[in-house]
Amino acid sequence: MVARTTPAPDCKVLSVNPAGSGFPTVGPPYMKSGYYCTAMTVLIVIFGSILLFVPLLSAEAGAMVLVAVLSVLLGLPVLMLTLYLNSFATSNDWYTKILILSYKFLLFGRRVPTAKQDMAVRMIRPKRSLQLVPIKYAMNISVPKGSEEEFKPEQGQSSNVSLTSSLGVAFEENLYRLPQKIIWDRFAPGENCVQYAMSIVGDAYPVVNTVFKEKLTDKALTQFCFFGIGAHRLYREQMGDAEKGTPASGDYVVRTNQLATLPVREGLDSYGGDAYFDYETWRIKKIVRRFPAAPWDPPEAKERTFYPGDPEWEYVKFVFRSSLFSLVTLVDHLYGIHMQVGNFVTIAQREQLGANHPIRRFLAPFCYQTISVNDNARNNLVNPSSMGPRNFAFTDEGVAMAWAAAPSLITSGVELRSWLGDDAKAYLAMLLDYEKYIDYLRQNGIDTPYRRQSLDFWLSMKRFVEDYVRCYYKTQAELAEDKEIWRFVLSIMHDMAFTTAAHLAEGVGSGGMIDTPEELYFFLVNLLTRYCYVVTAAHEHVGTVSVYAQDVSFTAFNWPKDELCGTKQTAVTSATLMAFTSTPMPKLMAEPGSDGDWTHLFEGPLEINGRELGSAGVVPDEARSAFNSFQARLKVLSDKCDAFNEAAQSKEAEFPHCFGMWQTHPRHLETAVSV
Ligand SMILES: [Fe+2]
Repeated sequence: MVARTTPAPDCKVLSVNPAGSGFPTVGPPYMKSGYYCTAMTVLIVIFGSILLFVPLLSAEAGAMVLVAVLSVLLGLPVLMLTLYLNSFATSNDWYTKILILSYKFLLFGRRVPTAKQDMAVRMIRPKRSLQLVPIKYAMNISVPKGSEEEFKPEQGQSSNVSLTSSLGVAFEENLYRLPQKIIWDRFAPGENCVQYAMSIVGDAYPVVNTVFKEKLTDKALTQFCFFGIGAHRLYREQMGDAEKGTPASGDYVVRTNQLATLPVREGLDSYGGDAYFDYETWRIKKIVRRFPAAPWDPPEAKERTFYPGDPEWEYVKFVFRSSLFSLVTLVDHLYGIHMQVGNFVTIAQREQLGANHPIRRFLAPFCYQTISVNDNARNNLVNPSSMGPRNFAFTDEGVAMAWAAAPSLITSGVELRSWLGDDAKAYLAMLLDYEKYIDYLRQNGIDTPYRRQSLDFWLSMKRFVEDYVRCYYKTQAELAEDKEIWRFVLSIMHDMAFTTAAHLAEGVGSGGMIDTPEELYFFLVNLLTRYCYVVTAAHEHVGTVSVYAQDVSFTAFNWPKDELCGTKQTAVTSATLMAFTSTPMPKLMAEPGSDGDWTHLFEGPLEINGRELGSAGVVPDEARSAFNSFQARLKVLSDKCDAFNEAAQSKEAEFPHCFGMWQTHPRHLETAVSV
């Protein structure tokens, strides 16, 4: 466990050296010490052993009696537990079964939280350094301990610190140590993979909103990549290059070959496949698959191109779908959203902004239970041999390599670095401002329904942020005087930058990026909008993938080489991982005045630079109006999404505009990340 900012110790260096000269050097032959055996040593060993022997015999006898008593008392319950755990999900190991049972226990006793009941202002914790735990595999990322969660009693006031809660934490922290057992049970021809997984995990599974009328056809691959989980990874074959001055060209492509050379466990196939779609018709043209190979292997052993109609076509499509599902889950969802953006912003708002700071209050619903969720992800998805590594095909070394590559594989701006040249400010601006990013994609000929719908949502969120910020800072110069805001913004930028070995070595930070009040305003507004967008719509897009995770014949985290379906074990582990996301969270759409309305968080007195703002218990009209306008815009967007889906699913709809989208639909969104 580490603290981010350790107070300087009261440091007094005590010297044992004689002043100035130091101890004289001693050369061979050194002082004699022999076998350390003196007459006194012999006497102590002989008589000491005789004296200790009797109590040792007594302790051994006591231990044997204790073991016998425990065997009598616990033998029957342990036997019953063993038989029970072996009675269901017979294609899975105990780790998975115990994890399912413990998750169901938590889920079945939980209600949907609401802002009124679960986000009380009096429960907002004071600003202070959080206790952090470094996560395995990642470079320089730590997550707060679950006990640091907001809207809970501060340490020392908690009635929850008990033997049972301590045992619960110990259980969660150590469950991944249970041994992993690979069971290769296959589905019989025609056996329904979805029903199998749902019969075990179905009552803990999240709602499936996404509709795939077809899953395995070539047309379905267009839905998968343009409207589904690949929509944020769709590029042109050649993107425009600012340094070379060349425009974008070629077909659309979704790439997963970045994972192709990472080692996988014996018996499983490697990931990979770049899918190319015709620029005019959006139909799949080919999949280029890279293989793990040695440098001296012939070209056909390193890479092959497959076309519709090839004997291997259906298998290569399955490999591509499964690879994309795994890439998005590991890189975009777990690493990008949970461990980077969600984690860093949540830490910064707790450590740099006071409990009564207006931006701390604004972020509270969007950080709701993020600390608990990320602590859970650390234990159950990141840790070696936890549910994440057990699902992916990678060997232990492959998992470490995938995490090392993750910072360079995330999208939505990060990938632009190589295309924007050395203009660091332009790069950072595009990384934060999604509208600029969408403009860039449009200039490169990428203008899809997913991008248009997500931009609508972004603009709506940004307006909310701007309206709210204006309530407390009348000018950009006023904002620049807020010392906590500076620290908040710089803290996030610093944490985001220092997550790769290259950046650590370069010492890349935020110096020189924010020089003026205008730049600070731009960074704050876009950073807040980006965060709120990421934990709502972007998280829904990459994280709520229940339609994929329940069917290992559609997409599988791992599969036996040359087989078109995952095993029964993977069907259950995949569905279990997905089930974690079904934890109910507060809804983003909240009728003003209802239990979901979170405007009470804006009540006075708030505080900037030690100056109190507003009256106790009173919500400023401007802040309430910002919230109400935001909710009204969400309703309009919601209707627009309904109309889009209705048109797309009507009989008149023609390919490729015959697929609905649910990931940016405000009615399905929650205020903060779930697992
Ligand atoms: Fe998540």
